[in-house]
Amino acid sequence: MKRVFLSIIFATLIPTLCHGQEDHSGITALSPELRELFSREMIELQKGMQSIIPAYISGDWGKIASIAGKMEGSYVLKQSLSKEQTKELHSRLPGSFLELDQQFHYLSGMLEHAASMEKVELIGFYFSKMSEACVSCHTQHATHKFPALAPKTEPHGHSH
Ligand code: HEC
Repeated sequence: MKRVFLSIIFATLIPTLCHGQEDHSGITALSPELRELFSREMIELQKGMQSIIPAYISGDWGKIASIAGKMEGSYVLKQSLSKEQTKELHSRLPGSFLELDQQFHYLSGMLEHAASMEKVELIGFYFSKMSEACVSCHTQHATHKFPALAPKTEPHGHSH
């Protein structure tokens, strides 16, 4: 009986605990101003990714190099952050987040390079790597925004 009780407690507690962790994922801990800037950068990144497609399919390598270069330099964040905001970003966001961000910027740098060398296959390769990097970070840090990316949990018991 005790065991049944305990497992009920765990079954209800564990998901709550996991949710609690998610809330400390970092981005929600930022000040509203910084979060707004971050969000704007994300929308710019999305526009960048979208405008790479027509350039890619028409062989406009120079355009890709220029877009990728801007993405690497970070549209909003690097340019308009105050010193305090940079500090805030680094102290509130977990290390894994900053690593994913770095990885993303590395890939945009590689895409710019591949585009300026007119290496068509590499351009395709790095573009797809970049898309993976968006998904990978969103899966770990933005499931509040993109719930479909949340890891699927095994349903408890049977449901038909
Ligand atoms: C290092 C982590 C990280 C990477 C890499 C990343 N994102 Fe995001 N993105 C986030 C987080 C966190 C949010 C949620 C922001 C919030 O809730 O304020 C987000 C939100 C967004 C949004 C919604 C913005 C809004 O407020 O409406 C878009 C669009 C987006 N990302 C596009 C992209 C694209 C496109 C890429 C890749 C080219 C990308 N992101 C790469 C972390 C990342």
